[in-house]
Amino acid sequence: MLTYVINGPNLNLLGRRQPHIYGHETLADVEKRCADLAAELGLTTRFLQSNAEHQIIDWIHEGREEAGAIVINPAAFTHTSVAILDALNTFEGLVVEVHISNVHKREQFRHHSYVSARADAVMGGFGTHGYLLALRHVALSKSA
Ligand code: DQA
Repeated sequence: MLTYVINGPNLNLLGRRQPHIYGHETLADVEKRCADLAAELGLTTRFLQSNAEHQIIDWIHEGREEAGAIVINPAAFTHTSVAILDALNTFEGLVVEVHISNVHKREQFRHHSYVSARADAVMGGFGTHGYLLALRHVALSKSA
């Protein structure tokens, strides 16, 4: 079973986008680290990014057939998208929500997450390590 790692809007600019908040690593760096760790853990990952809400929803729908787990950083859609929550509610596997920054330390509007109403686990403030911790959680959950 695959693990989908889905990234939302503006994360294509990781490394260049507000590096004091999100760090200097690019999304390609994160993808590589995820692929290396996944291989070590015996997981297969599909790493995805889109700025379009409908594309993220389509990948979640596809994941219903293809994926055992979804690791998702919905970025700004976290705070706005009932549609992504509804899509995740149709998915039966493990869902881990990841945020690079600690959203609770930031503006009030980032404190609410629609996605957390479905997520089995939530990572925030671990920087890009959050993705790796999420994959470790997927692997540990599979072997539990
Ligand atoms: C983010 C936090 C969101 O509030 C923000 O809109 C993002 C990235 C994070 O990874 O810390 O784009 O999800």
